[in-house]
Amino acid sequence: MRYDSGCVSQRSMPFWCVNSPLSDPFGGPVMEKLDSLEVARLMAWAGREGLIEATSYHDDDLVKWDPAHPEDDLDPASDTYKKLREIKAVLDEAGLEINSSITNLHGHSMFRDGGLCNPDPEIRRLAQMKVARTLRIGQFFNAKYFVYWVARDGFEVPVITQWDQVYENLAAGLDFVTDYIEKEKMTNYLGATVEPKPNEPRGQMFLPTSGHAAGFICGKLKKPDFWGVNPELLQHESMALMNAVMTVSYLISLNKLKFIHFGSQIKAQFDNDFPPLVGPEGLKETVMMFYALKQLKWQGVIEYDCHMLRSEGTPQDAVNSRKQFIVDCTTALAMALELADRIKTPGVYASQSSADLQSIRDMCNLPEVKITR
Ligand code: NOJ
Ligand code: MG
Repeated sequence: MRYDSGCVSQRSMPFWCVNSPLSDPFGGPVMEKLDSLEVARLMAWAGREGLIEATSYHDDDLVKWDPAHPEDDLDPASDTYKKLREIKAVLDEAGLEINSSITNLHGHSMFRDGGLCNPDPEIRRLAQMKVARTLRIGQFFNAKYFVYWVARDGFEVPVITQWDQVYENLAAGLDFVTDYIEKEKMTNYLGATVEPKPNEPRGQMFLPTSGHAAGFICGKLKKPDFWGVNPELLQHESMALMNAVMTVSYLISLNKLKFIHFGSQIKAQFDNDFPPLVGPEGLKETVMMFYALKQLKWQGVIEYDCHMLRSEGTPQDAVNSRKQFIVDCTTALAMALELADRIKTPGVYASQSSADLQSIRDMCNLPEVKITR
C-alpha cells in the first residue's frame, strides 16, 4: 500500500510503539503487553482504516529468541516458524508492508555491555547470529530496510573502554550485515540504516548524532552506498540539542536520509518519545522540518517512534486506547503536513525576524496583526 502525499510515501507504525507497556525507570508497566499476533491484528485494523501503510518490528517483538537455537526460524517444527507465518498472514491480508526489520540487541541481559561492539568476542558472535536471524525474518516479510540502532553500544567508564577496538568492532558488525545479505542473495533490502542516539540506555553511545552516523558510514564501512541514516526527530537529535531542519537537510545533501522516526521531545531531556506534536514544545521545529523536506523534494517513509503518554495508559481498555494512539499519531502527521503547506517562501522581507513572524502567520492562517503604536 502507498500513501504518496507530499513528502510521505508511507506512514508506518512499529510493533514496539503500539505494544509499549509504558514503564519508566520509576514505575513498572501500566499496560499488559499484548501477544504479537494480537498486535498484528491491531496493525491490520489500522491498515484497513487507512491510518498506516506499513509497520516495523524488532525480532523480539514477534518471537522469542533462544541463543541455544539461533536458527529456529528455519525449522518448520518450531514455534517461531509457525508464529511468523501467522503474523504474516494477518499483515498481508490488510496489505501492510514492512518498512524495517530490526535486531533487538538491548533487551537481553547478555547484551548489557553492548551488542555488535561488546568487548567479549563470544557475545559479539551471538549478536551477529541474532542479526542474521533478523535478516532472514526480514527477507520472509519482504522488509525494505535493516536497522542498526546504536542501543547498548556505548560506555560509562572511559578508562576501561577499549578505544582501539570500539569502531573496528562496530564496522565489522555492520559489514557483517551487508556480507550476509550478499551471501544469501537477499533482494528485498533496499538498504540498511544506522539510527543514532546520544545517550540512554548507555551513559554515552558510540554513534550519538546523525553527523556521527553519516561520517562513520562514509569513512569506515565496506558498502557505504547501501547504508543510510534514520534519524529520530525530534527525539534523539533534540536530546543532543540538534535541530531537525538542519538534520534532514544535511542527510539529504549526502543522499543518506532513508526514512524518519517521528515523534516529539522536550529539548535536552531523556528520550520523551511523545507522540508527534504532543507536549509543551516542538511545534515550530516539526512544521519547519516538513517545510524543508518539501523544499528539498524528499519523499520517504514517516515512521512514528513514540508511545502514548504514561498518564493516558488505560489498562482496562488496552485495545481501544492503543487504537486511539494510532489515530493521534496519524492526525498529528496530517496536521504537521498541512501547517507546512501553508508556509510561503519569503519574498522581500524587512528583517530575518519579520520573515520568521510571517511564516508563523502563514502557518496559523493569522491575518495581519494590528499593533498599537
Ligand atoms: C527502541 C528505541 O527507543 C527506538 O528509538 C529505536 O528506533 C528502536 N528501538 C529500534 O531499535
Ligand atoms: Mg527510533
